[in-house]
Amino acid sequence: MPHDLQNLEKSLSKIAPLGPLYFFPSIDSTNRFAVELGRNGAPGGSLVLADAQSAGRGRLGRNWESPAGLGLYFSLLLRPKLEAASAPLLTLAVGLGLAGQLRKLGIPEVMVKWPNDLLVQGRKLGGILTEMLPRGSQVDFVVVGVGINVAQTLEDFSPETAPLATSLRLATHRDWNRAELLAELLPALFLESSRLEREGSLKTRWEQESGMLGVPIAYSEDLEHKALRHGRVLGLAEDGKLRIENEDGEITELLAGDIKISSSKFKV
Ligand code: BTN
Repeated sequence: MPHDLQNLEKSLSKIAPLGPLYFFPSIDSTNRFAVELGRNGAPGGSLVLADAQSAGRGRLGRNWESPAGLGLYFSLLLRPKLEAASAPLLTLAVGLGLAGQLRKLGIPEVMVKWPNDLLVQGRKLGGILTEMLPRGSQVDFVVVGVGINVAQTLEDFSPETAPLATSLRLATHRDWNRAELLAELLPALFLESSRLEREGSLKTRWEQESGMLGVPIAYSEDLEHKALRHGRVLGLAEDGKLRIENEDGEITELLAGDIKISSSKFKV
């Protein structure tokens, strides 16, 4: 067990709805394993954590770089009472919850880039990948996968990722204990899930807390980024789509895909 994960059970012992814990020194993907657990009827609150992933999954079929000892890689299985159509809101809600916790932990400038990126000064600190299985019109289970760059220096990232990425160590110039970090972040996932069950809507809160309102962006409605358009963020639609006013003054709603922040300060 890596040094900073040795007190894992103790660190997590006070997190009330937590179910069984599965720790792997290395696994292909904690999300893949957690989806498997969900299909086999594992309870909500089951947690999968790995020191390293050999095929960490990112959004849009991308890879999530997951070297041993350097990042926090976990997947939480939840069985929220939500309409399947509301599942994308859970990713957004978890983003707000994690950003709030990270600010409390001393990183005030964390921002949530729609839909799932945690940014610090325009560089990617972490990402969220939710995978959902419906049962009829309801959610059967959701796997919320979270990757946070913790101890990386720029040399630890691949040449493609390095210009776009940061880590807690780079952002704060100190060491972080991953078990303690996990214990600080996990409650936010439970809280966000039950808050969404209760409140249903996320629009107003996301608009207030994401830091994205009015931000100039480049976006593409096709996933290959063929036709890049420019606009600014107007807000969130009730179903989680991003509302954009494009350069011709037209209003579009983006369901999936990627956006880039176009201000010269932030290039991600
Ligand atoms: C993204 O920004 O594209 C989402 C990245 C999510 C990565 C995490 S790491 C733990 C969990 N297991 C995976 O395979 N992916 C998520």
